[in-house]
Amino acid sequence: MIANPLKLKKIHHVEMWVGNAKQAAYFYRQAFGFSQIAYAGLETGQRDRTSYALEQGKARLLLTTPLDSQSEISEHIKKHGDAVRDIAFHVEDADFAFTQAVERGASAALEPRDLIDTNGSARHAAVHTYGDTIHSFISYKDYKGSFLPGFESREMPGADVGIVRIDHIVGNVELGRMNYWADWYSRVFGFERFMSFDDKDVSTEYSALMSIVMSDDSHAMKFPLNEPAAGRRKSQIDEYLEFNQGPGAQHIALLCKDITQTVAKLKESGVEFLRVPDSYYELLPARVGSIKEDMETIRRLRILVDRDEEGYLLQLFTKPVEDRPTLFFEIIQRCGSRGFGKGNFKALFESIEAEQAKRGNL
Ligand SMILES: [Fe+2]
Repeated sequence: MIANPLKLKKIHHVEMWVGNAKQAAYFYRQAFGFSQIAYAGLETGQRDRTSYALEQGKARLLLTTPLDSQSEISEHIKKHGDAVRDIAFHVEDADFAFTQAVERGASAALEPRDLIDTNGSARHAAVHTYGDTIHSFISYKDYKGSFLPGFESREMPGADVGIVRIDHIVGNVELGRMNYWADWYSRVFGFERFMSFDDKDVSTEYSALMSIVMSDDSHAMKFPLNEPAAGRRKSQIDEYLEFNQGPGAQHIALLCKDITQTVAKLKESGVEFLRVPDSYYELLPARVGSIKEDMETIRRLRILVDRDEEGYLLQLFTKPVEDRPTLFFEIIQRCGSRGFGKGNFKALFESIEAEQAKRGNL
């Protein structure tokens, strides 16, 4: 198999289509510590939508809202609520990536086109992935601006909370479709199956899920795919699929260097996290052994820890960041481990299900 057949460089940004991008941008600046870097809207000659580009470390979010009821953005929001539309890649050559992707079985979403302004130009194309989500391919020619041609630099600093980059982005797909999409990422992107979890790893009394992690050869871009597994009651994946009205991005994991600092700041600024049960911390030292971080701080901030053969990781999950129980964020710090917190799944699911029960969805 050819390594990196589309010549992907990295995740360029994740675009969310939202009902009110101005307020969403405020939320991600004030609550998550992103800085606004660029803007496109009526004042920049963009008539149908307004977008705010935000950045923290190397993680970039693009928040876009429609300016009329007829656009595909409005339809997307009507169906999915505020949701991820595009997981965009910076590539060597957008035309090449697009042609290769389509030849390898992807369906075209946007034919290659120029994006041009006074700062230079870029090429942009896109293909469809699960649900109504797309993957954009972006390559620059001689661009000197801060985000993409069409955007003007409009800086508004946020209080950085220590997020370094996007670690992984998880997609939820329908029952029976996980293998289809794993094969799709393997065929189209040349990704490998990095690891997988089945219902024996990830189940509680009520629900279960199956997961396959697809990764590029450098393990810099990781895309786990979940599907629901049969449980006694409705699983969290079923709940997502119901409220997102189909498949879509379930969570964006943000990598940080010092999770105790990051989580403390996020909690201070009002980000809501899943409540990890007390019982989790009683069993923790025996399960993970000694870690660099202070166990009392970990317990106080309700951070999750997991260990595997390579090391350990610390992680915590926010509650959904919109009213529909759909997209949420993960904060993750890696200390050797390249895993996803398999040992936390059960403890975590019990916590998720307690929230789900409050919403009358269990
Ligand atoms: Fe995750």
